Amino acid sequence: MHATLTDILYELVQNALEARATLITVDYLEDDQTLTCCVGDNGCGMSTEEMKQATDPFYTDVTKHAHRRVGLGLAFAKQLCETVGGEFHIDSHKGEGTSVALVLPKHHVDMPPVGDLPYLFAQIMCFQGEYEMLIHRRRGNVSYRVVRSELRESVGELEDATAFSLVKLYFERSEEEVKEEAYGKNHA
Ligand SMILES: Nc1ncnc2c1ncn2[C@@H]1O[C@H](COP(=O)(O)OP(=O)(O)O)[C@@H](O)[C@H]1O
Ligand SMILES: [Mg+2]
Repeated sequence: MHATLTDILYELVQNALEARATLITVDYLEDDQTLTCCVGDNGCGMSTEEMKQATDPFYTDVTKHAHRRVGLGLAFAKQLCETVGGEFHIDSHKGEGTSVALVLPKHHVDMPPVGDLPYLFAQIMCFQGEYEMLIHRRRGNVSYRVVRSELRESVGELEDATAFSLVKLYFERSEEEVKEEAYGKNHA
């Protein structure tokens, strides 16, 4: 299978929305060696038992997403972390929310490609519904933060195609800046 890291993060955000979260935080933090991705939500949460089942590949409900490419859920995320010698953390409390963190060694041979990060950020900002989202991106000592409600104020309704293009462009520019500033213009 050819999943990208952005496919996995997309899935984690999808889980948060399915859990009826109204606040979702996404951190994507990178230094020379390590990539740390966290998705936190204030959705329905899980009990300890549910959490155990959710990260076990033999329990994942394969009938839920009939058209899914391959299982990209929690079990897969956990398995990836184990394969590359990273860390997988999940913390969840029933009725309070969930947070999932992946700590990954960037240069491990079995790391999947990152995928299109600006596209992912635009996608997760533009899902339908009333939810607040905070994206925090850091590369080296440069970072940016984007808040969904502020984006909406400047772009308007996020669900339409024009807004999506604008938001994607915004993230593409932000990524260019992060890369240039963090590593110099010749190292992007
Ligand atoms: N953020 C979350 N909040 C609450 N429950 C979650 C969350 N993420 C996952 N779960 C629970 O774990 C189960 C497994 O999630 P996942 O591995 O993505 O597979 P799927 O979404 O296909 O069921 C979900 O069905 C859900 O019950
Ligand atoms: Mg899922």
